[in-house]
Amino acid sequence: MIALVIQPSSEADLEEPILEVEGLSVVRSGKLVIQDIDLTILKGEFVGIVGPNGSGKTTLLLSILGILNADSGQIKIYGSKPMSKNLDGKISWVSQAASNLPSDLRLTVRELVELGTLNRSNMFSRRRDKQQVDQAIEMVGLKDVENTDIGRLSGGQRQRAVIGRALASKAEFILLDEPLVGIDRESRSSLLKLLDDLCHDADKTILMVSHDLAAIRQTAHRMIYLEETIKFDGDTSIFPDLTELAELRGIKPVHDEVHGHHHHSHKGAGEDL
Ligand SMILES: Nc1ncnc2c1ncn2[C@@H]1O[C@H](COP(=O)(O)OP(=O)(O)O)[C@@H](O)[C@H]1O
Ligand SMILES: [Mg+2]
Repeated sequence: MIALVIQPSSEADLEEPILEVEGLSVVRSGKLVIQDIDLTILKGEFVGIVGPNGSGKTTLLLSILGILNADSGQIKIYGSKPMSKNLDGKISWVSQAASNLPSDLRLTVRELVELGTLNRSNMFSRRRDKQQVDQAIEMVGLKDVENTDIGRLSGGQRQRAVIGRALASKAEFILLDEPLVGIDRESRSSLLKLLDDLCHDADKTILMVSHDLAAIRQTAHRMIYLEETIKFDGDTSIFPDLTELAELRGIKPVHDEVHGHHHHSHKGAGEDL
């Protein structure tokens, strides 16, 4: 098996690591799902993870969140183990399910975003940071529908509302699992733009899973190809094209020129992995 791993660009080298994963393997129902993952993400990075169905993307996110236990290896977020108390409020998770919230759910956009301000320390104090909520709603562009039930929003608006909830929490590290599913092309672009702005202007760090290669490649600075192990990790501009991906996946014999720095202009639309 061949692996192509390129270090993140050197300009970020001195930045603070937000996530450090070392030698991570995770077993689910007796099956080795991810194997020997090494991954460091620095503050302000926007990292996209792609890979085919069942390749362990969600498993990796759930392990980072501390929902699943490592079989071996270790994970540190801001230097602490997943689920450590001092990580409270620093991490947020946005799932695909966000766009599938039940349509009879009676909750306004504003109320949903307000939920993001709840955490262990203020759960019972009923303290509400109005400004924080206003700002989050503003950032995701839902001011004009803030009092609308989320059940009446489009898929794209709903996904924005859930991202708004994450922003209201002031989380610095945002993990998104397939946030583009069920969202039309136009909303996708503006959602990706929003995420990109968050990295650049609001100092967020983003790790986003998607099987929509074309969409994620438009925005992520760095791409990871995961299929049980990390088979590519590097700058988006040198992400392999589909033929090379097939080679990485062992579908075709590999020439040993993969360490060269190719610059691909190939940007086909709607390549689903
Ligand atoms: N709850 C579970 N119990 C056992 N195995 C699971 C469970 N969920 C997923 N798996 C297995 O783990 C592998 C990776 O799944 P997952 O991380 O969800 O992949 P992806 O998100 O890349 O589609 C798959 O082979 C899947 O069958
Ligand atoms: Mg998944």
